[in-house]
Amino acid sequence: MSPQATTLSLMRSWPTDDGVVALGGDYNPEQWPQEVWRHDVDLMTRAGVTFVTLGVFSWSWLEPEPGRYEFGWLDEVMDLLADASIAVDLATGTASPPPWFSHRYPESLPVTREGVRLAPGSRQAWCPSSPVFLQHATALTEQMARRYHDHPALALWHVSNEYGCHHLPCWCDVCAAGFRDWLQERYQSLEGLNDAWGTAFWSQRYTEWEQVCVPRATPAFGNPGQALDFWRYGSAALLRQFTAERDVLHRLSPGVPVTTNFMTMDHFRLLEYAEWAKEVDVVSTDHYVVHASASTSVDPRAELAFAADLTRGLSGGRPWMLMEHSTSATNWQPVNEAKVDGQLLRDSLTHVARGADTLGFFQWRASQAGAEKFHSAMVPHAGPDSQVFREVTRLGEVCARLGELVGSRVLADVALIWDYTSAWACGLDAHPSVLVDAGTVAHELHASLREQGVTVDVVPPHADLASYAVVVVPTLYLCDTATAAAVAAAAESGAQVLVTYFSGIVDEQDHIRLGGYPGAFRELLGVRVQEFHPLPLGSCVALDDGSTGTLWTEAMDVVDVAATEVVARYADGSLTGGPALTRRRVGHGAAWYSTTRLDRSGTSALTRRLCEASGVVAPVTNDGAVEVVRRRLVDDDGAHTWRFLINHGRENAAVDLPGHDLVTDRRVDGAWTLEPGDVAVVREG
Ligand code: GLA
Ligand code: ZN
Repeated sequence: MSPQATTLSLMRSWPTDDGVVALGGDYNPEQWPQEVWRHDVDLMTRAGVTFVTLGVFSWSWLEPEPGRYEFGWLDEVMDLLADASIAVDLATGTASPPPWFSHRYPESLPVTREGVRLAPGSRQAWCPSSPVFLQHATALTEQMARRYHDHPALALWHVSNEYGCHHLPCWCDVCAAGFRDWLQERYQSLEGLNDAWGTAFWSQRYTEWEQVCVPRATPAFGNPGQALDFWRYGSAALLRQFTAERDVLHRLSPGVPVTTNFMTMDHFRLLEYAEWAKEVDVVSTDHYVVHASASTSVDPRAELAFAADLTRGLSGGRPWMLMEHSTSATNWQPVNEAKVDGQLLRDSLTHVARGADTLGFFQWRASQAGAEKFHSAMVPHAGPDSQVFREVTRLGEVCARLGELVGSRVLADVALIWDYTSAWACGLDAHPSVLVDAGTVAHELHASLREQGVTVDVVPPHADLASYAVVVVPTLYLCDTATAAAVAAAAESGAQVLVTYFSGIVDEQDHIRLGGYPGAFRELLGVRVQEFHPLPLGSCVALDDGSTGTLWTEAMDVVDVAATEVVARYADGSLTGGPALTRRRVGHGAAWYSTTRLDRSGTSALTRRLCEASGVVAPVTNDGAVEVVRRRLVDDDGAHTWRFLINHGRENAAVDLPGHDLVTDRRVDGAWTLEPGDVAVVREG
């Protein structure tokens, strides 16, 4: 078989189940003279690069004038890559329209809440609802599909780029009209809309659809139903742009999978990715280490692990693609920290440990000009004679050896429910405390479990919970009846379920579940809360088990006294003597309720108890300094497992695990040492 044919058959079933962990990155040859291209491909081969993402921001090169396409340069690059057996994740090129487009269709530019129309001159300056954008984007997609479907380098289609980044939400008139159409479809009648939005309040009752608008700047708090639906609409409007391009590709390029890169990082929460995941052929995401993350209480490596576990959850446990991360510093944080020695390998392999079968970077060659010239790359400004390129090459060698685990699944006994829609609703105006952030709660609990060496599947609300020993429900403010029932069923059948404060408060329409909090979980937990007692910033309350609570407390009564034990009580403050933490026996399992934000050691003690009670054994080493994850594959030869060990600490870690370490390619036996900063991937046995 020719190398080209191998590439074709390998890659058209992404993610591959043979070969290697794919390694590559965004390749932007249009930024460089032609003579650099050949050199690039040679260097890619040297580094073990197996794929590139091509053409993400190439629209102005592909269609320099309306309707006139120039593919010659791209043909040449595609041919060069095919000759080197480097697969192409080919972008449709539609992320950023060229200046001629914005000039000709100024109505396609996004508008801020205050009514300011944004200018072109950066990127992604287009309105999510724009029909004229959709028309031009799908036209380019059609040209790309017709031109390249049969090209041997084509492995995967990459639609647009990081939807929602930079251009969502948009408050323009086109969005207002699109929002109305979407609402009509959702509610059928104005009566339905009035009910859902609770417009009996503050004289907001609508009598004509024309009166309904996007939530622009208002004198007082806007309507929460309107605000929540506007979040939903923004995600749906962009999803429609994606599916329009995807449908063109499925029609004209059948058999080639289609993806778009999500942003499952903590600081980006604009899209309901559970809906998006249903529409892509393979889930891919981008991740950058953020040094001051939204959940500032959590360290950046824990955030990385959360993002990876969430991506796997969105992918239904299947392997996923890390489309972009960085070899070293980014350029968009206030201070852009370079990665220290070995960090590149540790970060990359953390993603693989947690289910990635592809490792992509932004970008192949560091730009000489433009807004991202200070962003790190696989080939830095210093050139290939550099520490970064040497580390990339080493990663390439390791990726080749990791091929045997491609297609394997991550083993996790714990599920943590993460719902973007609930997080949006939780963050709406005029709530009991602006200090409550669903993401922070979720990250803190996840980080605590990670520290103990426990792997967590971060799953969307409608995921199947049946196989989990522990189910964590962190501040799920908005919860539908089906999700509440699934959580209760998990407890019945033996799981230890933990629900934290301000959960189950409202239904899908952001209407309070009456009768006492936490409405959707009241029965399961055997308690009833009459009033919230949020705490001011900086104040705390003691619990009688020695831990401390901050941020939030609740005046709670135990209702099912026979089955519900008070695990800890408030020891000071206005709720002294009242229950703070409870546990109800349910079927074969239990349902725990925490009414406050426990401090670090309290959280750790609680997550440990949950694991102990459910028989989840954590292979703890070095008090959390060593991150541990296992992947497992069952094939005709039986079951195979690999254990990832990443030493983030400053001490040697003693490991007692026989097998073959794929990173150093050596047999490890009995007791051996994992040095600080080292990572091992041990094929067990
Ligand atoms: C995002 C984009 C890339 C690049 C990187 C920089 O992930 O998709 O084009 O801007 O950020 O970190
Ligand atoms: Zn708009």
